[in-house]
Amino acid sequence: MSAKPAVFVTRKLPDAVHERLLRNYDARLNLADKLYSTAELLAGVKDCDALLPCPTDKINAETVAALPERVKIIATFSVGCDHIDVAACKARGIVVGNTPDVLTDATADIALLLMLAAARGAYNGERTVREARWGAWAPTGMLGRHMTGKRLGIYGMGRIGQAVARRARAFDMEIHYHNRARLSPDREQGARFHANAEAMLPHCDFLSLNAPATAETTGFLNAARIGMLPDGAVVVNTARGPLVDDEALIAALKSGKLAAAGLDVFTGEPDINPGYRTLDNAFLLPHLGSATTETRNAMGFKALDNLDAFFAGKPLPARVA
Ligand code: DGY
Repeated sequence: MSAKPAVFVTRKLPDAVHERLLRNYDARLNLADKLYSTAELLAGVKDCDALLPCPTDKINAETVAALPERVKIIATFSVGCDHIDVAACKARGIVVGNTPDVLTDATADIALLLMLAAARGAYNGERTVREARWGAWAPTGMLGRHMTGKRLGIYGMGRIGQAVARRARAFDMEIHYHNRARLSPDREQGARFHANAEAMLPHCDFLSLNAPATAETTGFLNAARIGMLPDGAVVVNTARGPLVDDEALIAALKSGKLAAAGLDVFTGEPDINPGYRTLDNAFLLPHLGSATTETRNAMGFKALDNLDAFFAGKPLPARVA
C-alpha cells in the first residue's frame, strides 16, 4: 500500500474533521492552534503533498513561489479565497479548492441577526440591561428602525445573497439586488435587478454586502456610494471587510447619515479600525458568519472531499483554480 499523502493543516479544526484527516492522511495538525508566521507555514509544509489553510493564513504570490515543488493542492477551510493568490497558484500548477454551499445558511442567518440587531439598537439595549441602567419603560425610549416591509438591497446575489433574500422575504421586505449577472426568474423570486450598484443604492433602506473581496469590490462602500443611500439606511456586512471604506462608514454613522451598521467582518481583523468601537449605532461581531459546530464540521469535510478527490485523480467537488 502506498504511503498516505501528507497534509499540513495550519489551524486546529473540529475533532470530527481531525478524525477523518488522521484516518486518511499523514496529517500534520496544529492542536495548539498557534497562528503560524509565513516562515513557520513554509517550514511545516516542507515535506507535505498538500496544504489545508484557513483565512488567517496569507498565502500571497511570494509564499506560493516558496511552496515546495511537492505541494500540488491547497484545500482551504473557507469559501473565501482572498487570502490566497489564486492566479499565482494557477501559474504554478497548484490546484485550489474551497468550501462553498455548506456555510450559506449560517452566514445568511448572521446577516439577518446583524440587520435586526443594528436596526433595533441591540447593542445599546443589551448594555443597558447588563450595566443596570435600565430605567422605566418609556414610550419614546430606545426607538429603533422598523425592518418588516422595508426595502433591502443585496450587493452580490450569489448563494449567500440569495439565502439572505429568502430570509428577508419572511419579513415582507422588498428585495433589490446587484450582481454581475442577472439571476434566472426562479432564483430572482421577484427581486428587482439593478445592472449597476449605483442605481440600486437609493432603494436600500437596508443594504447587505454579500460579494466576495476582489479588486473590483474592494472599497465598494465609499463616501460617494454611502451618499446615494437613503438617509437613515442600515448597512450590514457579512462578506469581507475590504468592501467597506471604514473611515467613510464611521463618518456616516457619526453624522447620522446612516442609522446603524451591523458588521461581522473587518479590514485587518482582529485589529479593526478603532473608530468602530465607540459607536453606539454599530453592532459588531468577530467574524462569526460560519461559526456553528455543524457548519465548521461541514467546511472541514468539504475541504477533505477536495483532497480525497485530488488524490484519487478525480475532479474536485469545489475547485477555484
Ligand atoms: C469563509 O469561509 O470565507 C468565511 O469567511 C469563514 O467564515
